[in-house]
Amino acid sequence: MSNTPVKRLSVPNIMAKKGKEPIVSLTAYTTPVAQLMDDDVDLILVGDSLGMVIYGLDTTLAVTTEMMIAHGQAVMRGSKKACVMVDLPFGSYQESPEQAFRTASRVLQETGAAAVKLEGGEEMAETVEFLTKRNIPVCGHVGLMPQAVQMMGGFKVAGKNDAGVQKVIRDSHAIANAGAFAVVLEGVVEPVAETITQQLSIPTIGIGASPACDGQVLVCDDIFGVFQGFKPKFVKRYAQVGQTMKEAVKQYAEEVRSRAFPSMEYCFLPKKN
Ligand code: KIV
Repeated sequence: MSNTPVKRLSVPNIMAKKGKEPIVSLTAYTTPVAQLMDDDVDLILVGDSLGMVIYGLDTTLAVTTEMMIAHGQAVMRGSKKACVMVDLPFGSYQESPEQAFRTASRVLQETGAAAVKLEGGEEMAETVEFLTKRNIPVCGHVGLMPQAVQMMGGFKVAGKNDAGVQKVIRDSHAIANAGAFAVVLEGVVEPVAETITQQLSIPTIGIGASPACDGQVLVCDDIFGVFQGFKPKFVKRYAQVGQTMKEAVKQYAEEVRSRAFPSMEYCFLPKKN
């Protein structure tokens, strides 16, 4: 066994994957889950989706910077190899580039993560430029933007009509030109996501977008089959961990009620003389 410390993938390593083998990305929010995925993923996103999948909120809007930092720290403790980025939550960056810098620098300082992600297109380009010029790596997020749920009246796929196609193309270009190292395309009609991927010089990371994207990201609780709330069309369940947990609880409850658990095997017995 070698004692050489494992080097984490860096932001430039992720950028260098443009047009090559797809970037594998998943969300993680906790130390054990980060440990489980660290060998197999390139990029871990501590997503503000944690508000919905961990805290049971209906939207991501009530997620705070403190929540993101606590979960960012947990994920950093659980990972050694993957590049880690942390979402900036709603209200923590939209007011001004200066507010975004204060939040983003605090997130990087307190978690040790490599980058932040923020939602928004043309309207956030000035902020992305402000951050990247001050050495804060930023991943953009355009298309379906969960933090815009109230303005949109729901979680709506982007690029369904001509105006929508033009908007998502303009948004992704604005974020790339502002210096983002990558951009998440969420809920973007497939050929549009492919076109954007071909046009941009930075990696696109798709979620409900296109196999042509430079990478893919999904919410870990969705692929594990733990989150039972709802299943968007773009989610593929790779396991039924929620069902397994439910069965374990049921069996535990039966065994406690019947006194089958704890059997002597699980008890501390007096020392034999
Ligand atoms: O918050 C999140 O998990 C995300 C992904 C869905 C891309 O932004």
